Amino acid sequence: MPEASQPTIFANDHGVIQRYRNYLPVTDNTPIVSLSEGSTPLIHAPRLSARVGKGCTVLVKYEGLNPTGSFKDRGMTMAMSKARENGSKAVICASTGNTSAAAAAYATRAGMDCVVLLPAGKISQGKLAQAFVYGAKVVAIDGNFDRALELVREIGEMDEFEIVNSINPYRIEGQKTASFEIIDDLGDAPHIHVLPVGNAGNITAYWKGYREYHAEGKSTRLPKMVGFQAAGSAPIFYNQVVTAPETVATAIRIGNPASWEAANEALNTSGGKIDIVTDAEILEAQGWLAANEGIFVEPASAASIAGLFKCCAKPCEGCPVNAIEPESTIVCTVTGHGLKDIDTALSARSFRTIDAKDDRSDILGKLGY
Ligand code: F0G
Repeated sequence: MPEASQPTIFANDHGVIQRYRNYLPVTDNTPIVSLSEGSTPLIHAPRLSARVGKGCTVLVKYEGLNPTGSFKDRGMTMAMSKARENGSKAVICASTGNTSAAAAAYATRAGMDCVVLLPAGKISQGKLAQAFVYGAKVVAIDGNFDRALELVREIGEMDEFEIVNSINPYRIEGQKTASFEIIDDLGDAPHIHVLPVGNAGNITAYWKGYREYHAEGKSTRLPKMVGFQAAGSAPIFYNQVVTAPETVATAIRIGNPASWEAANEALNTSGGKIDIVTDAEILEAQGWLAANEGIFVEPASAASIAGLFKCCAKPCEGCPVNAIEPESTIVCTVTGHGLKDIDTALSARSFRTIDAKDDRSDILGKLGY
């Protein structure tokens, strides 16, 4: 790969390091590798709010609008900038698809080689296409994500590679900026924050961000962190490693999360909880969010919406979502764009085109006008 000139911040670069550099471990010597990630919209969801009831306001943090279509870009700008500062020539990661897409794009920006280890046959086509097109070396292993991460830990011990999974602490640093944005937008933290959980880096990052901003006096409260795992891949919920995780939400098909302890700390200290949603609930929520709020997310992201529905439909004991005060603010993070995995979106429902002749009256007739 040709040597890239040192990336610099341009006046129109509004990436998360530019925006929050006082809260991030960067110096004037850190070459910033950015695609202007972050500053994603916090979208008011009136129909979702009505479904929750009690006068609550639900907002959706739409992370699918990051440059590679997922929240991973926030962490990758930090991990890749620090890797470049350290003189690394190559990065490596295991992935269920989104980390590899982000790593591939940011490595290209940084002028570094990128190796990704993926579970064969379990990555959506959109994400696989991204890794290829951005120029990564794509290795498909005969094993799941957890095994791929074990191998990355081993290979990452070689001097040649920098690991850019969320076991790299700079990833968490970058991802915590989503909490800052939410507080900056709302003027305070929400009462409840709902998000999907896989390898558990993101819930760890959000909680870190909320705490740091709170300590700075930027918010008056800390939210309860509420995480949802797919029922077939729910090690934190069951408090037990899942050796053969399964779910239609391939992004969170993880049985032994790297940030397990940190996630438990976030759940416990925030007074939140972890729960599960079935694949059917995930797909139902995906369709509902697109058809009712105009927000198309990938299946893993819909786990947070499915979870919110579950909590509201069937109160369970000690549930912080049911115990919420009227008029509460709830933020749901939807982590990845729906276009990442159109095969699942299309096969989950029976969509049909209305076939017509190339004729105005035939078209209007078929439409019933
Ligand atoms: N949502 C999406 C769309 C994801 O891609 C992931 C994780 C998660 C949620 C869960 O976040 O792992 O921080 O708890 N994807 C990783 C990957 C594992 O390789 O792309 P987490």
